Amino acid sequence: MIALSLSEIRDLTDGTVHGTDRPEAVVVDGPVTTDSRECGPGGLYVARVGETADGHDFVASAAAAGAVAALTSRPVDGVPCVVVEDVQSAFGRVARGVVDRAPELRVVGITGSSGKTSVKDLLASVLSSVAETVAPVNSLNGEIGVPLTVCRVTPTTRFLVVEMGARGIGHIDYLTRIAPPQVAIVLNVGTAHIGEFGSRENIARAKVELPLAVPAEGLSILNADDPTVAAMASGLASRVQLVGRSAESDVRAEAVTLDERGRAAYTLVCPQGSARVSLRQSGAHHVGNSLAVAAAALELGLSLDQVVAGLGAAEAVSRWRMEITDRQDGVVVVNDAYNANPDSMRAALDAVAAMHVAGERWAVLGGMLELGPDSDAEHGAVGSYAASLGFDHVVAVGEGARPLAEAFPGSEWVPDTDAAHDLLVARVRAGDVVLLKSSRDSGLRWLGDRLAAEGRSVTATPAATSGEAVSR
Ligand SMILES: Nc1ncnc2c1ncn2[C@@H]1O[C@H](COP(=O)(O)OP(=O)(O)O)[C@@H](O)[C@H]1O
Ligand SMILES: [Mg+2]
Repeated sequence: MIALSLSEIRDLTDGTVHGTDRPEAVVVDGPVTTDSRECGPGGLYVARVGETADGHDFVASAAAAGAVAALTSRPVDGVPCVVVEDVQSAFGRVARGVVDRAPELRVVGITGSSGKTSVKDLLASVLSSVAETVAPVNSLNGEIGVPLTVCRVTPTTRFLVVEMGARGIGHIDYLTRIAPPQVAIVLNVGTAHIGEFGSRENIARAKVELPLAVPAEGLSILNADDPTVAAMASGLASRVQLVGRSAESDVRAEAVTLDERGRAAYTLVCPQGSARVSLRQSGAHHVGNSLAVAAAALELGLSLDQVVAGLGAAEAVSRWRMEITDRQDGVVVVNDAYNANPDSMRAALDAVAAMHVAGERWAVLGGMLELGPDSDAEHGAVGSYAASLGFDHVVAVGEGARPLAEAFPGSEWVPDTDAAHDLLVARVRAGDVVLLKSSRDSGLRWLGDRLAAEGRSVTATPAATSGEAVSR
């Protein structure tokens, strides 16, 4: 990270120093971690008290791994520490101190109900092709994940991409005070975590906190194809660009085609000109995602050529998002089971429906969590949607997915992933495509990994072949 002395960390956090008389001589310039096993030379260890473990018990092992200081809520021997009342908010203030010491840094915030990580990965990939870029590992998008990401900024970092998730009103506002964005992307307002929010209006209120934090000279990038997001344009201090397929978008996709693997190509039309873009990820939903990425990258000074080249070169980074494996026996496994909500379920089903399939289409679907009182109806709607797309088989896995099975004529219900595995091994044939999709805790991603490995996989996609294009 950008070097901070222990006295600077004390001042940023209003803490007190223990374990050294010369806090100005203790300099943190290594990794900042909340896991003692990830500590390294020059590092800062942030001791959190979790439900099952107390981070203070691991200060000694953090020091052994090279940490030169710790941020704690009580004095601990073995390493100099800054003791604060609330470690979480102190960590946020340290991260903000890092941003304030990087005046050249440009910060992009990303929020939405679905696609944040996909957009984060795509944007980081495009920006890294021109300058040093820091972006979250996996999906670190909360009150700890954001400061962890911010603290990876170095004096030579030019771009910081921050994924911002919310489980309630005020969460994103809090994150924007840690990493104040000059560019904001709002992807969509769906029903993810609606159980906690209570209503879609509340989800919109939570998401609009991101563009509201962008100053007048900054840019808010809003999805024109989601009316709730497009409506956020009024009432913002910042400039606004709409992105999407609709004609009024400032950055838009025209002449969209999908190849045999469901990968999109389109003509990107923007104020800088127009150019043909080809994506490597499957699913038409990546058109909108990549338009937001293009708008952000252009705003940050990349040329249209750099943007088009970057989008075309980007491979999937985070796992279990439309991960396609061609098994040697001719079965294709599509593992999109990182997480699921009704919108991303439909996006995945659409993507597989758009693929050219020699055999039959299987949707192996688990429960979607945190949907609140509409949960059964939402599961049923996904089952009907799979039927409307012409899927040949639905295998619903686990109790939560029962209503989904009931809505798909001829579906099968199994209690767990082992039973799903046995059914699939017995029934799936060469040429079939098997989609796996569920919420994280339903665990279908592991079933997908198991199925992919069993068929002695020969290529993990994005495959290089491109077939006949179909217009959508
Ligand atoms: N724009 C989008 N609309 C709907 N679903 C999407 C979109 N972008 C990605 N997805 C799907 O949503 C799921 C979660 O994607 P991810 O990028 O991890 O989102 P998040 O970080 O917001 O949870 C994946 O299954 C992905 O294929
Ligand atoms: Mg995410």
